[in-house]
Amino acid sequence: MPFNHITPDEAAQIINNGATLGLSGFTAPGTPKGVTEGVARKAIKEHEAGREYKVNIFTGASTNRHVDTILAENNAINRRAPYQNLPVSRQHINTHDIHYFDRHLSEMAQETRYGFYGPIDFAIIEAADITPDGEVLLGCGLGNVPTYAHMADKIFIEINHKLPKHLHGMHDVVLLNDPPYRREVPIYHANDRIGSPVLKIDPKKIVGIIDTEEFDGVKEFTAVDETSTKIGNNVVSFLLNEYRTGRIPKEFLPLQSGVGNVANAVLYGLAEADELPSFMMYTEVIQDAVLELMKRGKCTFASTCSMTFSDATEAELFSNMDFFHDKIVMRPAEISNNPEVIRRLGVIAMNTALEADIFGAVNSSHVLGVKMMNGIGGSGDFARNGYISIFSCPSVSKGGLISNIVPMVTHTDSSEHSVDVIVTDQGIADLRGTDPVQRAERIIENCAHPDYKPLLREYLKMGKFGQTPHTLQAAFAFHVAFNETGDMRNADFGRYMK
Ligand code: COA
Repeated sequence: MPFNHITPDEAAQIINNGATLGLSGFTAPGTPKGVTEGVARKAIKEHEAGREYKVNIFTGASTNRHVDTILAENNAINRRAPYQNLPVSRQHINTHDIHYFDRHLSEMAQETRYGFYGPIDFAIIEAADITPDGEVLLGCGLGNVPTYAHMADKIFIEINHKLPKHLHGMHDVVLLNDPPYRREVPIYHANDRIGSPVLKIDPKKIVGIIDTEEFDGVKEFTAVDETSTKIGNNVVSFLLNEYRTGRIPKEFLPLQSGVGNVANAVLYGLAEADELPSFMMYTEVIQDAVLELMKRGKCTFASTCSMTFSDATEAELFSNMDFFHDKIVMRPAEISNNPEVIRRLGVIAMNTALEADIFGAVNSSHVLGVKMMNGIGGSGDFARNGYISIFSCPSVSKGGLISNIVPMVTHTDSSEHSVDVIVTDQGIADLRGTDPVQRAERIIENCAHPDYKPLLREYLKMGKFGQTPHTLQAAFAFHVAFNETGDMRNADFGRYMK
């Protein structure tokens, strides 16, 4: 079937106010780069003419500047889910101009299919290629594309001519049945394949092909800083100890790790740990460090939802596909983050906190309790179901004005029921098998910054009642002190106790 090649502006013509767009991709890779630019230009014109024009944007996770920047800065987003991480959309979310609902990434696809969020009017899919009968070779990130393509009546395909055709074979595309017809997800090893290398869609749904030619624009990581190095070393020494004592089996277990400096430091630290065997990853994103580990033979396979490589590393991958092709599989988010699979494989979960409290609860999403940062992302999927769940963060932020270990978190993303270990640059608190007060003592003594230990000890001592002895009237004294004086070290518990 010959397809119509159209421009982003022509695509935008048929996207009406209030439409819901389901986008392929997960982080920048795999995310469309053309049609949303057309939608933003249409929004400008419609707003100038005094007409309401906004669309709903559903994705796999965070996106790129063609989506969360350009649409947000032109007031073109109404509802947004399930995750974002760009300053402009964040700002509009915090002023309620964008109605953002933050979901566990494993759940977004099925909840959309269940009809919780209404219909998907258009799917916009980045692809490397398409056959006349609708077999789509996807790009470098999947997200929820099988669900959005399945639900949408109208589909735009963005062929990105930078993407090589030998990506073929690196995807494992699956659409799960919904209850009561859901079966097990038959992944028993991180490298098992259960689906198709291409996304199959009804060609009659395709309303146009848009041609693009652009890398994903992922920045290279800066050199790992001192704090991240210390955190990374602490995580590695914890894992080494678990391995030596036999609490991690001798074959080792698949790893999940987030993106960023700490994740980089952990992965490089593991590469240097000669007594650990080579390992696989079962994770939602892989970044540059993973490719490096593959070259060294330390990481033998990575199951992921997207390859979030810097442009330079992506170019290296594309020019060396013979080596990497069979070492990576990209899956939809409901499979990469699937609780059943994570628990079966025994994935070691390593995620980042904004703040953790002395009783072990973690806030990953809300700055000082009120401002949305990014969202829970996949951290809850992995933390709740992992073999061991580790959360790390620096002991302090903003040069020491903020303690990331606080009496009570101002928002809970992962509760103490899911958090096994907290790691900061100061040390490691292994919380397994401890009661709340024992947890608090470990977290304060091992993880808090020395500037904040006396205050945290004072708070713990104040608590007189219950198994988790919070003093409710003083529980947010750190945050109030920061809001009033710009420094959590000015927390004054006495003020609340009169
Ligand atoms: N209170 C207020 N601000 C804080 C803070 C706290 N407790 N902790 C950190 N910050 C600020 C930092 O100062 C920094 O501000 P800046 O950008 O103005 O410099 C900013 O928040 C980011 O902090 P940083 O330490 O650089 O965090 P990060 O880049 O490692 O991201 C999360 C940390 C928690 C925001 C991020 O990992 C996330 O969004 N997690 C949820 C999603 C997830 O875990 N997904 C699964 C794995 S991919």
